[in-house]
This record gives sequence, C-alpha cells and structure tokens, in this order.
Amino acid sequence: MESWETLRAACSACRQCGLCEGRHNVVFGEGNPRAEIMFVGEGPGEQEDLQGRPFVGPAGQLLDRMLEIIDLDRSQYYITNIVKCRPPRNRDPHEDEENACMGYLRSQVRLVKPKIIVCLGRIAAQRLISRNYRITKEHGQWVKNGPFWMTAIYHPSALLRDLNKRPETFDDLMSIQEKISEVCSPAER
Ligand code: URA
Repeated sequence: MESWETLRAACSACRQCGLCEGRHNVVFGEGNPRAEIMFVGEGPGEQEDLQGRPFVGPAGQLLDRMLEIIDLDRSQYYITNIVKCRPPRNRDPHEDEENACMGYLRSQVRLVKPKIIVCLGRIAAQRLISRNYRITKEHGQWVKNGPFWMTAIYHPSALLRDLNKRPETFDDLMSIQEKISEVCSPAER
C-alpha cells in the first residue's frame, strides 16, 4: 500500500487535469492521519490555493467554529477535498476533474481508515454518497457504505450566505456528535 509520503508527492506533482494550470498550490489535506472521522469538501478556494491548506478562508474559519461546538479540532479529524486544485473563480469542479482526482481521495481514505465520513456540501455528497443526493432534503441523514458511516451537512460557504440554514446544521452537528460517541473509540470523543 502507498505511504503518505509517496501519495503526497504524487499529488503535489499532479498534472492529470487542467486545474493544475492555474494553481498556486495543491491542497492535499491535513489533520490526524489516523482519525476516525474525516471531512470532505469540494475544492480549494482562493485562500486555500494560496496557503496550500484546506478550509483556511472564511468558510473554513466558520467550519472551525462549528466543529468547536462538538469539541472537534484539527488534531482529531482529517480534512480534504474532492479536487485538490482550485477551480477558476470557485466554479463547481467538472466531472473529468473530479475523476482525475478521485484516486488521491481513495488512497487518503484507505490510509486514514475513518469510521465516519462527513461530506461538506452537495458536490462531495453527490460524489461520495449518491449521484442524485439532494442536500436540502437529505443533509444530516446517515448511510452505511461498506465500513463507513456517511452523512452530509451544508457547505460552510452556504451557511455564510444563508443564516436560515444554521439551525438545521446545528442539529446535524449534534447528530455527528452522537454518531461519534456511538462508533468511535473513547479517545476520539
Ligand atoms: N471550500 C471547500 O470546499 N474546500 C476548501 O478547502 C475551502 C473552501
């Protein structure tokens, strides 16, 4: 099996889709490499592209505050994206760009071996849970997919734009906390 070092090196040098042309940095992912919970977003934004780290811009700062509510910080989870390079003007990633990048995410999941995978927003949920996932209807619901418990919450940038979505997301966070206490080992709680 691939090591973190070889995977990161391959990803950092990747030229498998057109997104490599405009990037400042590949945003590989970060956090606890043996975490029991993993968060997957859509793709890097401007700040992430400049800093080479996931979820460090305004949406990421909101996410940090949300996860603090359930006592989670980056030493406890692993966080990455479906695509590792920033799409121009933050457009949705194209299917061929997602396809080109999925091998990296699959390897990250194999290495981390999380018990819980939380999709951040529609793009990740449609890629990882089901093609026709409806985030407005299905957020917060749990599905067991092989060894993984999976759910999705609204993307934090949607929560920056629409404050009305925040109470539902609070409930989803509570449900994530409950799932952690159900399936994760005591050290993770
Ligand atoms: N939005 C995402 O989906 N991922 C990031 O890393 C930052 C913003």
